[in-house]
Formats: sequence, structure tokens, C-alpha cells
Amino acid sequence: MQLIINGKKHTYDGDPDMPLLWYVRDLAGLTGTKFGCGAGLCGACTVHVDGAAMRSCQLPMSAVEGQSVTTIEGLSESGDHAVQRAWREHAVAQCGYCQSGQIMQAAALLAETPKPTDADIDAAMAGNICRCGTYARIRAAIKAASTAGADA
Ligand code: FES
Ligand code: FES
Repeated sequence: MQLIINGKKHTYDGDPDMPLLWYVRDLAGLTGTKFGCGAGLCGACTVHVDGAAMRSCQLPMSAVEGQSVTTIEGLSESGDHAVQRAWREHAVAQCGYCQSGQIMQAAALLAETPKPTDADIDAAMAGNICRCGTYARIRAAIKAASTAGADA
């Protein structure tokens, strides 16, 4: 099977049930996407599949055949996506472990809803857990990115 990751074509002929997260980290070497719960409950493994935020620990390789996957490494060429800039300006990260998932989730939200309300943000981000409790800064950064004109 083939898939595209961050604009590059990849060919895979292994177990079709293997989670995409395993491929991304172990075979493609893109370790910005994190393993948290492995059960679809924390959001640390969030990537975009054809633009939608998805939990890569829950997606078998067979589900992404022919699809275009974007990881944190491919969100922007030089880390200057509006969400990434806002994250830096608001010093959102603490330990950082959840943050690539948070950023990917936020970028997908802003691509779909460029001016989200608090309720939109809460609904979109509810499944992304941060054990360090950076939620207030996450919300502030999403708002800043939305007013900066995010082009996810
Ligand atoms: S590692 Fe995928 S949702 Fe937690
Ligand atoms: S910054 Fe530590 S888990 Fe979110």
C-alpha cells in the first residue's frame, strides 16, 4: 500500500492492522508524534489525515491507504504555522509531551473554524489531555492564532 506523509510518498507492505502511530514513529522516524495512552483517550498521537485531526494510535495502516497524512514535522516548513507561533508567544508547553497533539488538534480546528468561540475550542480540544495543566495557555494561544489568521 501507499500513503503520503508530509508530502512524501511511502510504501508499506507489512501488517495492515498495525497502527499508523507505529509507522510514523518507528518506520518513518517522525518522533514528534507521541504515544500516550494507545487507546484513543489522550490525543498525544494526533495527526492530520486528509486535513482532519485523527488519533494515529487508533488508525490501522489499512485505513490510511492512499491518504495524505501530516505530522507535526510537516505542519509547516520552518515551524512558523500561526498555531506554532502563537504557542511560542504564549509559552504554552510545560513538559511538552502532549503538545504536538495539541497543536495538530488546534490547527485542524482553525482550518475548519477560523474564528472559534470558547465553546468551539472546548469541544475541539476536549479529547487532548495535558497532565501539566496548560489548558489556559492553550486556549489563549488558539485565540491568538485565530486573530492572527491561521492558515492551517
Ligand atoms: S496515544 Fe493515541 S489517543 Fe492516546
Ligand atoms: S505540557 Fe506536559 S503533558 Fe501537556
